[in-house]
Amino acid sequence: NRVVLAYSGGLDTSVIVPWLRENYGCDVVCFTADVGQGVMEMEGLEAKAKASGASQLVVKDLKEEFVRDFIYPCLRAGAIYERKYLLGTSMARPVIAKAMVDVAKEVGADAVAHGCTGKGNDQVRFELTFFALNPQLNVVAPWREWDIKGREDAIEYAKKHNVPVPVTKKSIYSRDRNLWHLSHEGDILEDPANEPAKDMYMMSVDPEAAPNTPEYIEIGIVSGLPVSINGNKLSPASLLSELNEIGGKHGIGRIDMVENRLVGMKSRGVYETPGGTILFTAVRELESLTLDRETMQVKDSLALKYAELVYAGRWFDPLRQSMDAFMEKITEETTGSVTLKLYKGSATVTSRKSPYSLYREDISSFENGDIYNQADAAGFIRLYGLPTRVRAMQEKGEIVD
Ligand code: ARG
Ligand code: SIN
Repeated sequence: NRVVLAYSGGLDTSVIVPWLRENYGCDVVCFTADVGQGVMEMEGLEAKAKASGASQLVVKDLKEEFVRDFIYPCLRAGAIYERKYLLGTSMARPVIAKAMVDVAKEVGADAVAHGCTGKGNDQVRFELTFFALNPQLNVVAPWREWDIKGREDAIEYAKKHNVPVPVTKKSIYSRDRNLWHLSHEGDILEDPANEPAKDMYMMSVDPEAAPNTPEYIEIGIVSGLPVSINGNKLSPASLLSELNEIGGKHGIGRIDMVENRLVGMKSRGVYETPGGTILFTAVRELESLTLDRETMQVKDSLALKYAELVYAGRWFDPLRQSMDAFMEKITEETTGSVTLKLYKGSATVTSRKSPYSLYREDISSFENGDIYNQADAAGFIRLYGLPTRVRAMQEKGEIVD
């Protein structure tokens, strides 16, 4: 038998390879997804995987699929978890797990394995995706089984099994990086009262050190999805990486929060989402022109549930998929452009335009027009306020039966 392991090349996944061979007697195929975690992480991986005892390493570039099929739907939905979190890690897990299911089929594996701990959200996201796409696969989660407690144990285990210990020195933070974001957890962040260290950040400069001159950028949007920057059409992944550069330079998109994990505990995390923050601001702003009041309210209320499902690993649930159909339909005419001014950590909208705009200057203007007749307002207010008047009369004893 054979197992496909979600492999990063770090110490933990390197130790999982010999551990799987020893405990399950299986052939180990390592799988690494490129979701934009950066070239440093991808270098020399195959040699490393084989040195750990893997029979092969499969690498797939999932960047465009990740942005197009996972990030963009969440952006269009306006999905934000617990007021702040733009779901960077949550969206990456289902695209990686989906690819693992494909690889398992390609190499004839009957099991999949991951290096998530038993205390986090990621294990749930991986496994719910495995369940949804191939319920026959066996799932192995070594962190929930073995007695390796920490880094020292892992190094010892590696040495005993002649696995080269990765030279890259482990950061004090637990980080997860992809094209959308970079997350930081652990170490001093574990006390929510501690301010993050200045040198922790990797995708964005300190807003205080950002350029003293603002930069304007225009985001082109078609049906709720970004398509261009300053008029240049770009593929989803290239658009996002360009915005990360621009946003990072201006210190945009740092988020510091305490969140409720699915497994019940609270955890403190700091996120850098420079390009994503610009995109959320832009898309939402365009909706102010294209959505009417009630539609916007329903959309926003569904967005809460949508975010919760994504956070909880239920990407492939019919519920999320159906809600996505709603989001797609409702944003069909959210097309146009939004200009933002980037300056020392803030992305301020300065202009919005849409050929489908419901805003009409001839109606809204303080100058008088023909469509809106101010005299109509008197009757409207009398009927709209009828319940208010009736209640007040009742309270004052003015209604007698
Ligand atoms: N708390 C965030 C989430 O649950 C980030 C998790 C980061 N994962 C990691 N393996 N370091 O989505
Ligand atoms: C982990 O525990 O593996 C990372 C954190 C998380 O999944 O929430």
